[in-house]
Amino acid sequence: MSPFLVTRTLPEDATDAALRADVLHGLTRTPKTLPPKWFYDAHGSELFEKITELPEYYPTRAEREILVARAAEIAEATGARTLVELGSGSSDKTRHLLDAMPDLHTYVPVDVSESALTQAGQALIAERPSLDVHALIADFTGGLVLPGTPGPRLVAFLGGTIGNLLPAERATFLASVRSLLSPGDALLLGTDLVKDESVLVAAYDDAAGVTAAFNKNVLTVVDRELGADFDPDEFTHVALWDAEREWIEMRLRARSALTVKIPALDLAVDFAEGEEMRTEVSAKFREEGVRTELAAAGLDLTHWWTDAQGRFALSLSTAR
Ligand SMILES: C[S@@+](CC[C@H](N)C(=O)[O-])C[C@H]1O[C@@H](n2cnc3c(N)ncnc32)[C@H](O)[C@@H]1O
Repeated sequence: MSPFLVTRTLPEDATDAALRADVLHGLTRTPKTLPPKWFYDAHGSELFEKITELPEYYPTRAEREILVARAAEIAEATGARTLVELGSGSSDKTRHLLDAMPDLHTYVPVDVSESALTQAGQALIAERPSLDVHALIADFTGGLVLPGTPGPRLVAFLGGTIGNLLPAERATFLASVRSLLSPGDALLLGTDLVKDESVLVAAYDDAAGVTAAFNKNVLTVVDRELGADFDPDEFTHVALWDAEREWIEMRLRARSALTVKIPALDLAVDFAEGEEMRTEVSAKFREEGVRTELAAAGLDLTHWWTDAQGRFALSLSTAR
């Protein structure tokens, strides 16, 4: 069986310190915010997988359609021997890419969710005995150090996850991705596209309430890790489209005035009735904007593919 190595570049205490810092910063400012990476404990990762199967949540199906159609072209254009995937989750769609890359030497899935990485990694080594899988438990925004594996290198960032970063964060992130690449290496980027508001909002506010449960899971994480007493039932899930910034925001709205205690931070946080806390931004893109942001980071867009309905795009860009 091929090697399966899991490396943790986020020590447990660093994760704890990062959560404390994010909660302290986010809940003592106005408006209140929490970063989306804290959704993804084992339960949050499971809920995300359920979201990808919802009738309203088109991005996964649209991106899969593109991958199925273009995987061979991507393999041919990049000649990659190492595939690094940021925010890999279940690595489910990635299988289409792996199938088209018989000469791939190493797959490096990177995620903050240890449970998702372990499950995906174990399944992959069983399916593909000749592939090295080197999983990294790491924050992709935090100065990644990759294992020394054979090039050319292809970095994949799928699922539209880049939209969870604010514009300034995206610029820093893309520059850091560029620094992981040698000239000629490539980035495969999944971006959800601007479209009708009703389609977008439904994708983040499904009828079965799975996205609502996913959103509220961040409260459960803060309760468990920091001893807080958030009651998820006291909050309502909100998804809205910001037409000016062209992003979806997920929020949690307090049903009534309440105070939440967070003993690990020695903090009590007051919420007014109806007060909203932002838990995720999901930016939607246009081709020209993606091309410009990539170029600013030293990446030249060479391919732009969309699904048949033009809902989602995969782009391939090459490091200068
Ligand atoms: C929207 S999901 C996409 C999963 C998968 N790539 C897909 O396309 O279905 C985002 C993934 O990124 C991971 N993630 C979120 N923020 C992260 C961060 N800062 N560093 C590493 N992984 C992160 C989550 O655990 C989750 O697996």
